[in-house]
Amino acid sequence: MSTYDSIAELYDPWSRSVVEDVDFYVAEARKAGGPVVELGVGTGRIAVPTAERGVRVIGVDSSPGMLAVCRRRAEDAGVADLLDLRVGDLRRPPVDERVRLVTAPFRSFLHLGSQAERREALAAVYRLLAPGGRFVFDVFAPSREDVDDTHGRWIEREPGIWERADWDVERRVLTLRVRGDSGETTMHLAWISPDEWRGLLELTGFEVRACYGWFDMRPYAGGEDSVWVARRP
Ligand SMILES: C[S@@+](CC[C@H](N)C(=O)[O-])C[C@H]1O[C@@H](n2cnc3c(N)ncnc32)[C@H](O)[C@@H]1O
Repeated sequence: MSTYDSIAELYDPWSRSVVEDVDFYVAEARKAGGPVVELGVGTGRIAVPTAERGVRVIGVDSSPGMLAVCRRRAEDAGVADLLDLRVGDLRRPPVDERVRLVTAPFRSFLHLGSQAERREALAAVYRLLAPGGRFVFDVFAPSREDVDDTHGRWIEREPGIWERADWDVERRVLTLRVRGDSGETTMHLAWISPDEWRGLLELTGFEVRACYGWFDMRPYAGGEDSVWVARRP
């Protein structure tokens, strides 16, 4: 059972406004060619448009509910044959293939709660990649203003969909509650600084090729979001 199962039907309406990353990840997939492994594939917000451009995706997710929505979405788009969906943990992805691109879009790596879990997941990504292959993912670390503005308040993110963030700045853990007509959940997201992400990537053996501040590929300049491109030598 995953914390996402109870909001599988809510996820797409909840994340409706998150579109800024789609073209970026689809372009990366087209450059690499398939199959691409997406860790934390969710409902296929990125995977379905990727398949629509003809690139095969192996999608791993620990939530059967999210994968069911993804399957339905892929069938509706007529690309189900290009999506290979697998229930599994991103720290131990059930993938034997070696690929040229692994992605983890929309902050999925913040579900890793400790340095040990991050190291385990990064090592798994490294093993999935063929030499020269790339790992592309995005994460965030909140600003003081974001914490102050949102802490402990229910906010209506989309009509009828409410979200509440409780920030533990000391432990660097966000407890996020989401509530809507079709379900609700509580999840925990753990953040670390961009310098720490860089250190972990290098420790795993990756070469960091880019750290962007947004999906338009502007260089990272101290904002909340960071978008990483790391290469297995
Ligand atoms: C924020 S959603 C991102 C979904 C999708 N990549 C997107 O861009 O919309 C995070 C996803 O990661 C999945 N997830 C969280 N922890 C996981 C884990 N340890 N192993 C596999 N999937 C996980 C969740 O079930 C969820 O579908």
